Amino acid sequence: MQDLLIDTSDRVLTLTFNRVDKKNSITTAMYAALAEALVSAQSDDGVRAIVIQGHETVFSSGNDISDFLTRPATSPDMPVFRFLKAISTCAKPIVAAVCGPAVGIGTTMLLHCDLVYAGDNAAFSMPFVNLGVCPEAGSSLLAPQRMGYGRAAEALLLGEPFTAEAALEMGLVARIVPPSEANALAQRQARKLAAKPTQALMAAKRLMKQGQADLLQQRIAEEGVLFGELVRQPAAREAFGAFLEKRQPDLTKF
Ligand code: COA
Repeated sequence: MQDLLIDTSDRVLTLTFNRVDKKNSITTAMYAALAEALVSAQSDDGVRAIVIQGHETVFSSGNDISDFLTRPATSPDMPVFRFLKAISTCAKPIVAAVCGPAVGIGTTMLLHCDLVYAGDNAAFSMPFVNLGVCPEAGSSLLAPQRMGYGRAAEALLLGEPFTAEAALEMGLVARIVPPSEANALAQRQARKLAAKPTQALMAAKRLMKQGQADLLQQRIAEEGVLFGELVRQPAAREAFGAFLEKRQPDLTKF
């Protein structure tokens, strides 16, 4: 079975995380497939809107930890960076449906989506500091803007998770629905977008985003360098090692 399902119908490209047994954690191969699908969609007149969705029990637990420890992202042409470039510069509207855990990049990728619909079981978290690393995907720029600095500090410094209701209040999420309805709602909304005049739609998205397009790319690159340095440090090795060994990390000495 494929870990990422890719389907286009009614001019909507749907990318579905399909690795539920591993909580939809994202491998290098999945990043490569995501990046390729998003880049192709840019020039495909048959695609006018994009949906990113998971399962009603889990959106994504973020990077596949064992995969990214064995294949660290060291250069800008690595799949994770190609995915970040593609999602953060995508000219076409992106709708996300999020249920259950959305950890790390499972949350930060949503900052690049235009409409986010959450199941009432959604649990967002960006525990980068707790893992000995730093925010990624432009979240150090976008989260304070979207959530306000105080909420972003709770999420990014303390690493505290937040609920669908909190995400709605912050404006990260547009609507909360029962988990069984989230993917269907995202599909309906994407079809509405796909039926709109596409040049006008893309112009509206571009105008809303263009104020800091260069700054965002610069920040994603800067975060990537720092993340790459930190992930090699003892604190991150302990945190990720503990997860793989199914024990509590001891970060008190770092
Ligand atoms: N990378 C690799 N494997 C992961 C994973 C990840 N990010 N998240 C979950 N898995 C695997 C687990 O190792 C486990 O595998 P196993 O069945 O072979 O033992 C399986 O998915 C189920 O995960 P489990 O932790 O038992 O599920 P849970 O319901 O108790 O908890 C989460 C769900 C998402 C809260 C928890 O899995 C988690 O915290 N994951 C790590 C999140 C993270 O730190 N991401 C990295 C951010 S940079």
